[in-house]
Amino acid sequence: MKAEAIVYESNTGFTKKYAELLSQTTGLAAYARSEVGTQLKKGAEVIFMGWLMAGGVKGYKQALRKYHVKALAAVGMGSPTDKVVSDIVKKYSISQTPVFYLQGGFDINKLHGLYRFMMLNMAKMMDNTAKKKETKTDEELLMLDLIKNSRDFVSADKLEPIITWLR
Ligand SMILES: Cc1cc2nc3c(=O)[nH]c(=O)nc-3n(C[C@H](O)[C@H](O)[C@H](O)COP(=O)(O)O)c2cc1C
Repeated sequence: MKAEAIVYESNTGFTKKYAELLSQTTGLAAYARSEVGTQLKKGAEVIFMGWLMAGGVKGYKQALRKYHVKALAAVGMGSPTDKVVSDIVKKYSISQTPVFYLQGGFDINKLHGLYRFMMLNMAKMMDNTAKKKETKTDEELLMLDLIKNSRDFVSADKLEPIITWLR
């Protein structure tokens, strides 16, 4: 195994679900970043999983200060594309660490405060833009659907590339 544990940061539960599924399959313990306590030493080799917020991976910078992050998995609501991964690589100037993207989901009912406000605003803006357009891209249709209806895309098979890397 290329890592000794999984550390994750999750707001509405999708990343947590992936971390738990990965833990079940690999036998690696999974810890929420804020709850690790003394269970992992500074410099422990971990795979970090965090949710995507405006293109950034929540908790990743903090995790880097404490652990040796051997691989990064970002969980967002968008479709998996090479661009999502390359944007993350660029944003954090990653050179060696493997970066994975997992489509998590979206649930407006689990969002509160500023995050809820931000997403409701984004939904309104997207709705207005979409109304003006005759044809919408698949990604625009997906976002509109997600924000209105909430969706869960988490599935164990999406973890295959990470499991292959880990072994
Ligand atoms: C304020 C905010 C910003 C977000 N920005 C992005 C984004 O840039 N890209 C993306 O794919 N998903 C984005 N999302 C969606 C979350 O990353 C997605 O719902 C993820 O599955 C949440 O994981 P969690 O349940 O572990 O918190 C955003 C969500 C919120 C609330």
